[in-house]
Amino acid sequence: ASVYDFFGAHQAGITTPVQDHLHFASFDMMARTGRDDLVALLQDWTYAASRMTQGLEVSATGAVGGSPEAPPDDTGEAQGLAASGLTITFGFGPTLFELDGVDRYGIAAQRPVGLVKLPSFLGDDLQPDESGGDLFVQACADDPQVAVHAVRNLSRIAFGRARLRWSQLGFGRTSRTTASQATPRNLFGFKDGTANILASDSAALDEHVWVASSDDPVWMAGGSYLVARKIAMLIETWDRVRLSEQDAIIGRDKGEGAPLSGGDEFTDPDFTATDASGAAAIPATSHVRLAHPEFNDGLRILRRGYNYVDGNNDLGRLDAGLFFLSYQRSPEQFVRLQRALSTDVMNEYIRHVGSGVWAVPPGVQPGSFVGAGLFA
Ligand code: HEM
Repeated sequence: ASVYDFFGAHQAGITTPVQDHLHFASFDMMARTGRDDLVALLQDWTYAASRMTQGLEVSATGAVGGSPEAPPDDTGEAQGLAASGLTITFGFGPTLFELDGVDRYGIAAQRPVGLVKLPSFLGDDLQPDESGGDLFVQACADDPQVAVHAVRNLSRIAFGRARLRWSQLGFGRTSRTTASQATPRNLFGFKDGTANILASDSAALDEHVWVASSDDPVWMAGGSYLVARKIAMLIETWDRVRLSEQDAIIGRDKGEGAPLSGGDEFTDPDFTATDASGAAAIPATSHVRLAHPEFNDGLRILRRGYNYVDGNNDLGRLDAGLFFLSYQRSPEQFVRLQRALSTDVMNEYIRHVGSGVWAVPPGVQPGSFVGAGLFA
């Protein structure tokens, strides 16, 4: 069973081998809270996260070791369960720095210039109650109960200071961050994560994922930016599309995940290759071509999304899709890629319904707390 360090140069949960389950939560600070409340919350969250990720209860007394006359420190449902590879990752949304022109926590001057609400994109159908938030918590684990336990306890610890704005459960990771992980599949049935940035590729991580010490602001050095997009899939429509058309929409074949220009899953796509009729083997409108670095000035992102099914809607259709998560050195990388995807034929089968962007501070040193540099 895996146990990952909570402390380190970068926060865990970004390049960590992608776990099987996700509980993602967005929080808003409560009215009449001040800088001291925010700092105390981050300290309390850090302490609890540093314990839970090691398979421990949130405090030494835990679920049953405290006074019978008081509510327990830990909610208890993870008793007897291992750490299950739990990682907990934290970050700060644009509204934490400034809300309706008010600098609630004295940090507006520290806001990274690029940390602003994402622009609207063609076809967006965003729901405010599944978007934004002052703070995010991403809990990933190989046991869903362990991930839910983490968010539930952090939410309880936040009582009176921050409250849950929205949250999302995910299963079946849709990416990989190490070469030893087999590429999983999204709910369209395609392998997802083939061309992702891997944890072993430190040059690519430094160029595309980690904020450099030469980037502004200084407190973000070693951090990253997270974009979340809840992307609903029109599953029933997709399921009536011919296989060859599905392949053409993605630009890879459904069985192997090989580019339509030939080879196997890990063969580089050849965008100059043509088929028997002389047409481009990988259509110009395919997802892989539109998202490929070659057509985007070398832009890359680290994808870490999950599948979701939130039951069904009134029409008896699955309420399902991809909870897209990407980490990048600047939110601009996502913005440019998403704009490049505006002509993606896949757009007929998806709807972006939730959105958020957060600054992800660097890793925590023992004795300190997450985001401490922001308050230095
Ligand atoms: C590649 C599916 C949304 C960026 C891929 C691949 C699939 C896929 C099957 C090919 C395998 C791979 O390399 O991982 C989907 C689905 C989406 C979605 C089903 C929505 C429901 C997005 C969004 C972005 C994005 C919103 C960014 C704005 C990329 C990138 C690649 C990729 C950068 C790698 C391209 C390359 O280097 O070849 N996606 N994707 N995808 N996707 Fe998506």
